Amino acid sequence: MRIEIKSASELSTFEKARQDCVVTSSLYAFLTGTKWASADWTVMVWEDEDLVTNVHIVERAARVGDQVVHLGGIGNVATKVEWRKRGYARQALKEAQDFLLEPLKVDFGLMIATEPMVPRYEKLGWKAVAKSMWIGQPDGRTKLNFPVLVLPVCMQEWPEGEIDICGLPW
Ligand SMILES: CC(C)(COP(=O)(O)OP(=O)(O)OC[C@H]1O[C@@H](n2cnc3c(N)ncnc32)[C@H](O)[C@@H]1OP(=O)(O)O)[C@@H](O)C(=O)NCCC(=O)NCCS
Repeated sequence: MRIEIKSASELSTFEKARQDCVVTSSLYAFLTGTKWASADWTVMVWEDEDLVTNVHIVERAARVGDQVVHLGGIGNVATKVEWRKRGYARQALKEAQDFLLEPLKVDFGLMIATEPMVPRYEKLGWKAVAKSMWIGQPDGRTKLNFPVLVLPVCMQEWPEGEIDICGLPW
């Protein structure tokens, strides 16, 4: 097993093609009309030439109430069906979380999750802070109604107020 993190510009054609073979997050199936942000970085878990798990990272300046926060967005956590339940997603997330601290030094990680997934992420240090947030879409700002989870990285206290991620969701 090999884990690596690459920026979008570093990905080879082979790596991009392999990413297409990993099933995408269940949220994409729930929210078919939504336009999503592309990843700034991807965590890739490999078994030989097979990409078994990927996790996307998006860096974003967002707003919570009247405060600007530097976020490391985590999205598209997915493991190929035949490689599940071996700890790959957990390891990829751990790698992503470490990357949020060093080198990114974000204030918080942020992800949305379906309700059944929330306890899994809470075990890894994430906290549910809201049931919805504002997102940007091509036709304007809209509310996304899913549990919002945050991970304290360089800041500890999540600010009070409505969340606006100021762009496409991840
Ligand atoms: C959710 C998903 C990413 C999990 O991937 P995974 O690689 O199977 O995850 P892990 O192996 O790290 O953990 C899954 C479970 O296997 C268990 N597990 C880990 N290693 C294990 C092992 N060696 N033996 C038995 N079980 C093991 C974990 O404890 C975990 O249990 P839990 O579901 O009770 O928490 C995967 O099912 C998936 O791609 N689903 C579709 C996309 C999706 O829903 N993404 C999340 C959007 S919020």
